[in-house]
Amino acid sequence: MDLKDFIENLKNEHQEYIQKMENWKKLLHFKFNEDLLEKIINFLKEDIQNHAEKEEERLNQKIEEKYPDFDSQAIIFAHDVLDEAIEDVIYYYEKYKKNKKYKDRLVNSIEKVFTMLKDHFMEEENFLFPNVYKEEKEWL
Ligand SMILES: [Fe+2]
Ligand SMILES: [Fe+2]
Repeated sequence: MDLKDFIENLKNEHQEYIQKMENWKKLLHFKFNEDLLEKIINFLKEDIQNHAEKEEERLNQKIEEKYPDFDSQAIIFAHDVLDEAIEDVIYYYEKYKKNKKYKDRLVNSIEKVFTMLKDHFMEEENFLFPNVYKEEKEWL
């Protein structure tokens, strides 16, 4: 897969994830249940982690092959910040399982991560990815 197709694939995942999060944000208020929580936790632990790994390993590698002066640490740093917020969700999820009074804090932590993820996807699409395209054009 070339760099452009790879980026298109990442953008499709962003769209899919944004739709899921928009839907879950509503359900958190109107149809809160254990099943919903499990889906969200799974999404954060599996889908988001896999997506981040693809970017940190394959995307960084593909960009670096073309542009050796590319700073790949920026993506990794942004993901570390997201990871910390995801850790908070898991922390409150464990607390909630033992004591339901943690529900509000759990919901807040989930909403915070959803907002951060959406902002992160937009930042990648508006700043990081176009840069790759731009430079690629110059190199043609
Ligand atoms: Fe990312
Ligand atoms: Fe991404």
